[in-house]
Amino acid sequence: MGAGELTARVTTVAFAGIETIPVDVQVQMASGLPAFSVVGLPDKAVSEARERVRSALSAMGLALPPKRITINLAPADLLKEGSHFDLPIALGILAEMDVIGHDDIERFLVLGELGLDGSITKVGGVLPAAMEAGMQECGIICPEANGAEALWAGDLEILAAPSLVALINHFKGTQILPRPIRRDADAFNDFHGDLRDIKGQESAKRALEIAAAGGHNLLMSGPPGSGKSMLAARLPGILPDLDARQALETTVIHSVSGMLPEGGLIRTRPFRQPHHSASMPALVGGGHRVKPGEISLAHNGVLFLDELPEFQRNVLDALRQPLETGQVSVARANAHVTYPARVQLVAAMNPCRCGYLGDNELACTRAPRCGEEYQARLSGPLLDRFDIQIEVPAVKPEDLDLPAKGETSQAVRERVFLARELQMLRYKNENISTNAEADGETLQNAAGLDADSRGLLQDAARQMKLSARGYHRILRVARTIADLSGSGAVKRGHIAEALNYRQMVYRR
Ligand SMILES: Nc1ncnc2c1ncn2[C@@H]1O[C@H](COP(=O)(O)OP(=O)(O)OP(=O)(O)O)[C@@H](O)[C@H]1O
Ligand SMILES: [Mg+2]
Repeated sequence: MGAGELTARVTTVAFAGIETIPVDVQVQMASGLPAFSVVGLPDKAVSEARERVRSALSAMGLALPPKRITINLAPADLLKEGSHFDLPIALGILAEMDVIGHDDIERFLVLGELGLDGSITKVGGVLPAAMEAGMQECGIICPEANGAEALWAGDLEILAAPSLVALINHFKGTQILPRPIRRDADAFNDFHGDLRDIKGQESAKRALEIAAAGGHNLLMSGPPGSGKSMLAARLPGILPDLDARQALETTVIHSVSGMLPEGGLIRTRPFRQPHHSASMPALVGGGHRVKPGEISLAHNGVLFLDELPEFQRNVLDALRQPLETGQVSVARANAHVTYPARVQLVAAMNPCRCGYLGDNELACTRAPRCGEEYQARLSGPLLDRFDIQIEVPAVKPEDLDLPAKGETSQAVRERVFLARELQMLRYKNENISTNAEADGETLQNAAGLDADSRGLLQDAARQMKLSARGYHRILRVARTIADLSGSGAVKRGHIAEALNYRQMVYRR
């Protein structure tokens, strides 16, 4: 054995967060006792590739040659996770068996999982893998079900095969695989309703519009059934669509987590609504086989935490850092992986456990103690991250009786769009795009306060004992209100309105 033995090489990738790391699959068949081993730090799913490859070959009537087969995944010190190594391993073996040519596969990056019947099944991460292939100026071989996804990586050769047989026939020239067809992208996103459906609640709708315009985090508190969940679900509908770069970023995250069913590009803002029983890995990412969490799936979109105080405290605290930095870092055995996590956070809560604090007829006998206890579950630093905090009172019966005649989401969205354009222009040298991202210094420069509005803000700061952070928060929201009205300077009226959006019960 040894010298002179031919070794087939197939290129594939491993994932670290949404980054791809090229991995070389080397297949060696040597004489000796029949064996089949995978080396190079494979995890369990990769080790199991042996069984799937063996059955997939035998489903085609091919037996593994009675040799010592060694699969090496290089670089050896990188942990290989996932089932997408099946296909490159199988193709390397088929090349060594002379079923396909070595040069057939050399121009491709390969990933895919094998079924026991020789079918090639869907895997996560085809889009970033295709982008890697584009960078290496080679094509990609992937499952048929992922083909449409690879199209978004640009102009590269894509062999999207339903089965090993189809792939072999393609190389033989007996049955050419068609190029995947572009899928309708936005069938992917659910429609979350129109603002028009919400009766009354004019000030809550106004706050929602301001939050959308400036990208501000929003906290709503109110009794059950007042329409908080309804309002939150309508936020994506008034946000501008993702630009090309954001669309690709968001789609890559969904691709890596294997959650891109249509293979389409995500162009509308994601809206994620994890349940309050969600675990830490589910929310921020990680877990046994590391995956993006809800906060990353919501990247460039909206993360909605309904019933905020019901979330586990450590889970909420874990959100603080990503909310600040726009990315999540998850610890692994020997490394950290990071996922993008730039979200607009919207949260809803009842003012107390029973929900009716402040309503003299409905509140329970423990009011207001029950409310204080309930609200104390939220830490100050977390609350500080909500630029806009509002109360959403119960809908007035006379409003409910009226036919819905409010503005449509489309009309609001147009104003939001204009306000966002002003911000983009203002911050073009700052590497940010919304008021929500502006820090104190930037805000001071951007506000253009006149003497009158400065006076009001300072009086309020003194009276409400605002911290520096609280002061900037008012300024930030006021800046957005001014942008919505197309005003260059932040005027007294804008400050006055902004002061309304920080009066939560628990801030006494
Ligand atoms: N302003 C409104 N206009 C029309 N329907 C409304 C309005 N507010 C509430 N509703 C109706 O009440 C239902 C409950 O609203 P929603 O789930 O948004 O309340 P909530 O504030 O989230 O309550 P909870 O605190 O219990 O979660 C909605 O499905 C809707 O049918
Ligand atoms: Mg609700």
